[in-house]
Amino acid sequence: MCGIVGYIGKEKKALDVLINGLEHLEYRGYDSSGVAYIYNNKLTIKKETGRIEKLKNTLNFNEKASIGIGHTRWATHGIPNKVNAHPHNYKDITIVHNGIIENYSALKKELQSKGYEFKSDTDTEVAVILLYDLYHQTNDVLKAIKEFKLKAQGAYAIGLICSNEMDTLYAIKKNSPLIIGVGKKANYLASDVPAIVDYTNQYIILNDGDYAKVTQDKIIVYNDKNKEIIPTIKTFEAGSEMVSKNGYDHYMLKEIYEEAEVIKRSAHITKVNLRKYQKIVIVACGSAMHAGLVGKYLIEKYAGIPTEVEIASEFRYKKIFINKKTLVIAISQSGETADTLEAVKIAKKYHSDTLGIINVKESSIAREVKYVIYTEAGREVAVATTKAYLAQVLVLALLAYLNAENKELEVIKTLESDLKELPILIESLLAKTDAYQRIAKKIYHRNDIFYIGRGIDYALCMEASLKLKEISYIHSEAYAAGELKHGTISLVEEGTPIIGIVTDKSIADKTISNLKEVKARGAYVIYIITDELDTEGDFYDDKIVIPTTNPILEPMPTIVPMQLIAYYVAKLNKCDIDKPKNLAKSVTVE
Ligand code: F6R
Repeated sequence: MCGIVGYIGKEKKALDVLINGLEHLEYRGYDSSGVAYIYNNKLTIKKETGRIEKLKNTLNFNEKASIGIGHTRWATHGIPNKVNAHPHNYKDITIVHNGIIENYSALKKELQSKGYEFKSDTDTEVAVILLYDLYHQTNDVLKAIKEFKLKAQGAYAIGLICSNEMDTLYAIKKNSPLIIGVGKKANYLASDVPAIVDYTNQYIILNDGDYAKVTQDKIIVYNDKNKEIIPTIKTFEAGSEMVSKNGYDHYMLKEIYEEAEVIKRSAHITKVNLRKYQKIVIVACGSAMHAGLVGKYLIEKYAGIPTEVEIASEFRYKKIFINKKTLVIAISQSGETADTLEAVKIAKKYHSDTLGIINVKESSIAREVKYVIYTEAGREVAVATTKAYLAQVLVLALLAYLNAENKELEVIKTLESDLKELPILIESLLAKTDAYQRIAKKIYHRNDIFYIGRGIDYALCMEASLKLKEISYIHSEAYAAGELKHGTISLVEEGTPIIGIVTDKSIADKTISNLKEVKARGAYVIYIITDELDTEGDFYDDKIVIPTTNPILEPMPTIVPMQLIAYYVAKLNKCDIDKPKNLAKSVTVE
């Protein structure tokens, strides 16, 4: 999703810092980019559609500006073109903006009635004209910001420069993340850590309603009530190496290969007592929601607590049945997903306890929930999540285990030792590259690919299918195997790839019957089976055998080949694997 970077300081060239920052934000997904800087008392704004490389070709890097703002835009209001791209400017005021100004239509009408004319379709142009309108009444940017906050509704992280104050950057934050990087004789603005990680490891998190005046030597932060506050300066944990590919062709591949390590790192969590709640509601989006579905099976089966999984964007607008005996678990890699964050705020209004399973430390959701468990997957750069999903599943599996109803069950007694073996088992699957490439070659040219499974295997199918479609652009669906006969089987024709996941012993025979049905109708069947359940037969064309482990842990090794098959299919289709079209890493608007 959109990215912001800002710089003020004389030691570096603003353009170098802005472009470097934007390149580090590319992974978030964008469709245009732009920069604004002041050099020799003159404001320059450059914008381009497409990749940052195109923007770079239009810039004169010899111009040693000491102030600037930059942006990667992921279109929401108006198509991705140069006019709609940021920065947006009106006379003295220039801004970059993440988020959505929800009342922009009403504000636009108000400003039009005052004679202002608009060139773009964006809510950001409304924001810049509103800021200008407020500014020119007093010539005081801080006063304009104060008024702006009263008028603008919705979500905004804004970086602002004023042509009459060439030594000052302004920042405004509400419901969309924004940090200030603290440097030596230089300061920075960023929507996310990687944008500034090459320059400083010190930063200030702005809270909702905060705004700041930033010069190269001084940072003044005001809170929601317009009071100057002393901000806490924090330190990032890792250095710039966290954004390197380490020799892999893609971040996604690197991140899949880190999965064994992630298991070792995330294997210890503090127990949260789930058993004191009557019900658990998991809220999340996309892959995090799919992890939640795996968690639901495990928590219900082993901890015996009724668990519902709600898509956060649906949860926000429906009648909900939660109270103080409900635990609401929010799962999010980024910790910034707007719908999930809002779901947490709703849960708090209903007096439910909230638990976050989050990857990014100090992110908005991590700060909003009552309890937090960090997934320790490390920074994930590829838009399609892999290692963070795996870490989410691990945390949920451990919560089910730690809250088990029956400690005498064999799977509970052996879990700790099985967990120690899990990284080795995952390494063994990571090594079988030939098998995944072979399967990818057989299916990459198809238009439709189906995944079928039952129970927990169905939850894994949903994730496997999402992974494939988002990076390879091939249409794919996941079906509960028993549902095929109720409609979808009519789509099966000669050669249709059907990937059947069978790891749950209790219902393996049922899924195998469904695989036989589709095979009889000409499907190309790829059978994903644990070695314990492995069966010979003529109902499949290809097979991947997953080493058997503790059933509570089995979803983790099972998803690894699915991620790698998706990766190789996308590679054969020459797709932009780390930055699939139209997608963003962190979805900070609803
Ligand atoms: C898919 C993917 C998305 C995210 C979803 C939630 O590969 O990454 O579906 O899982 O956008 O994001 P987080 O976990 O950051 O809340």
